[in-house]
Amino acid sequence: TTIAVINGPNLNRLGLREPHIYGKKTLSGLEASLKKMESEMDVRLYFGQSNHEGDLIDWIHEAASKADGIVLNAGAFTHYSYAIRDAIASIDIPVIEVHISNVFAREPFRENSVIAPVVKGHISGLGVEGYELAVRALYSLKNTGGN
Ligand code: DQA
Repeated sequence: TTIAVINGPNLNRLGLREPHIYGKKTLSGLEASLKKMESEMDVRLYFGQSNHEGDLIDWIHEAASKADGIVLNAGAFTHYSYAIRDAIASIDIPVIEVHISNVFAREPFRENSVIAPVVKGHISGLGVEGYELAVRALYSLKNTGGN
């Protein structure tokens, strides 16, 4: 099982960026923790982070032939990128939308996700733990059909 973990804009600043909201763990620390899941289960993870919408779109397209699922934190693009939404709709592998913070408990503009209707599921507010839960969910979708 191969899973792409894709992070969008400003998530390269994890650990430095508003730590009261996003925590103190850096993106490389998070990726290293997730990588450890490879020894625990039969899963291969690869990672990408970009501040550029087009990179995220290209990686979503590429993952369709390279991966069995995508864990995606599209950052603020979540709230307004119809192009990312269309990229997700264009592929057949499941995408799980992850937000570190509870997007419903913050500014009203964060309540709307334009990608939510085209993803398999959504995790919000569980901190960086949400990424690991999303990997586990994609793994069981692939290996047990989600049951
Ligand atoms: C975020 C929530 C978004 O509203 C915000 O723009 C981010 C991070 C989260 O992980 O909580 O960049 O996706």
